[in-house]
Amino acid sequence: VYTINAATIKAQVRPTMYGIFFEDINMAGDGGVYAELVKNRSFEFKDPLMGWDEVKQDKADGSILILNRGEANPNNPRYIQISSKSAKGYGLINEGFRGMGIKKDNRYNFSVLAKMEEASAISLQIELVNGKGEIIGSTTVSPSSKQWKKYTASFIATETEPKASLRVLLKGIGSVDLDMISLFPQDTWKQRPGGLRADLVQKLADMKPGFLRFPGGCIVEGRELDTRYQWKRTIGDVANRRMIVNRWNTEFAHRQTPDYYQSFGLGFLEYFEMAEDIGASPLPIINCGMACQFNSCELVPLNQLGPYVQDALDLIEFANGPVNSTWGKKRAALGHPKPFNLTMMGVGNEQWGPQYIERYKIFEKAIHARYPQIKLVSSDGPFSGGDIFNYSDKIFRKLKAAIIDEHYYNSPEWFLKHVNRYDHYDRNGPKIFAGEYAAQSVGGGNPENKNNWKCAMAEAAFMTGLERNADVVSMTSYAPLFAHVEGWQWKPDLIWFDNLQSFGTPNYYVQQLYSLNKGTDVVPLTLNNEAVEGQDGCYASATLDNNKHELIIKFVNTSNVVQKADFSMSGITSVTKASLTLLQSDNLDSVNSLDQPFAVSPQISNIEFKDNHIKLNLKPYSFNIIRVNI
Ligand code: AHR
Repeated sequence: VYTINAATIKAQVRPTMYGIFFEDINMAGDGGVYAELVKNRSFEFKDPLMGWDEVKQDKADGSILILNRGEANPNNPRYIQISSKSAKGYGLINEGFRGMGIKKDNRYNFSVLAKMEEASAISLQIELVNGKGEIIGSTTVSPSSKQWKKYTASFIATETEPKASLRVLLKGIGSVDLDMISLFPQDTWKQRPGGLRADLVQKLADMKPGFLRFPGGCIVEGRELDTRYQWKRTIGDVANRRMIVNRWNTEFAHRQTPDYYQSFGLGFLEYFEMAEDIGASPLPIINCGMACQFNSCELVPLNQLGPYVQDALDLIEFANGPVNSTWGKKRAALGHPKPFNLTMMGVGNEQWGPQYIERYKIFEKAIHARYPQIKLVSSDGPFSGGDIFNYSDKIFRKLKAAIIDEHYYNSPEWFLKHVNRYDHYDRNGPKIFAGEYAAQSVGGGNPENKNNWKCAMAEAAFMTGLERNADVVSMTSYAPLFAHVEGWQWKPDLIWFDNLQSFGTPNYYVQQLYSLNKGTDVVPLTLNNEAVEGQDGCYASATLDNNKHELIIKFVNTSNVVQKADFSMSGITSVTKASLTLLQSDNLDSVNSLDQPFAVSPQISNIEFKDNHIKLNLKPYSFNIIRVNI
């Protein structure tokens, strides 16, 4: 008999308990959530023509030049000059990010910055072509100005095509300069022009996340300081956001992404807006004057940290400042006068050692001198899977840090074994942010890692321990979040997508179920007066939802046999209704896929109850959520 005493509140579950970790890794940003379809739209990749090819219709004659106006426009120096000697149609074709995903009957918005060298009667023919080279949508624009000017046109696609490309053809004899050649679907998230891919943001919204951590991950740090994330360069006109190579631009055997750059079209305003849209508290992470310690380990001398600290202070003002403050004014000018209510910020990602602590102290002092209410998240390095009381943890305890960000990527067995990780954690010290974790079916960095049910179930079991210890664990997020099926660098990942579709993994449904069923207060669920932490392969936790007057039991049966469970509930008046949400597979190797997106997905049914008892046969390899109206 499992005993639940709903009258004994053990801890409160914070609204931030289950959140999202977003990083532009695996083409999550450019080529993913950021709905731009043109790759290398401003010719700023290392190879300026990467993603582009020359097109000569009917053997038309012409030439292409890449020009650099570095001094006049340091953020976006390059542009292309197309000259045509015949009227037949000469120009360029863009391959998109592993092709362009186009949907029949949807509207597509084309835009380009153009400048004429000499006045001439030319036009640009814009054509979307399918894999067979057939035109599936087209429009024209007619540049006329000798100054840089934006031209726009839109059209409806006549076919669905996962791998379209975009032709930009100069019709007529003459020459034109082009930059920021862009194509967006109209049906972006909230229909924002130049916005985000609606199906992917919807998947995040469906999780009802408590927070959104952004922009990473290692991209906060950069391989070198030069390629660190600098938020001020990511706001304002997209044509002026200085593009850099992505830290995850790799050319390893299974990680062929030499075309991975950050356009910053998904920049800090868009991150804050996305957080606001999906009801999540924003959690930006800022560079602390250290590049990735696994790569260059480049450091900013302590006496030169000023601009880095200033970036942090200005970010708080950008998010929260009144519209007459310097950065609040910029936020308002970008269309968001209302503050974003930033309450927390991370100083550095996955940093460790004395160099980090020295830098953290400088940030902490400056930020709290001006904004004492901002909670700082300090990094614990990548080693949290080891000794819980490691170097950083001890120091942060002394420094009275608010929240420590722990990361653990490990085997499913590790997750089961460490379900009690926080049971004896010092209640008087910093809170824990389980900021990055995932069970790996094969091991770190291995391309064979799968988002299988075994891993997802182990995470569900481990999370009973996070939830039971919600008084110290204040935030949790799986990582990484997104991966393009043809452009990933890291496995496993929560949500996979191609150019047209996406699916949640079994791990996604575990995260979602925790978030949708978090409740407000932890109450004890015991077996023979002990927490359920692996007895007969079972793991459990229980919460109350004080708003909905419900008791929520989470029960994970990792064994291969049915568990006959009798839940005895005290401290409640009477049960009026009970339901079971089941996530289960008989096969530990089960995965979801683009073809079978719901192979492992939640099923809801009503269940019986009698005299404050619920008796259930809980299936082998199952994650069960029992909601009881009380
Ligand atoms: O989630 C992938 C990477 O894992 C993150 O960028 C980094 O913080 C960690 O090492």
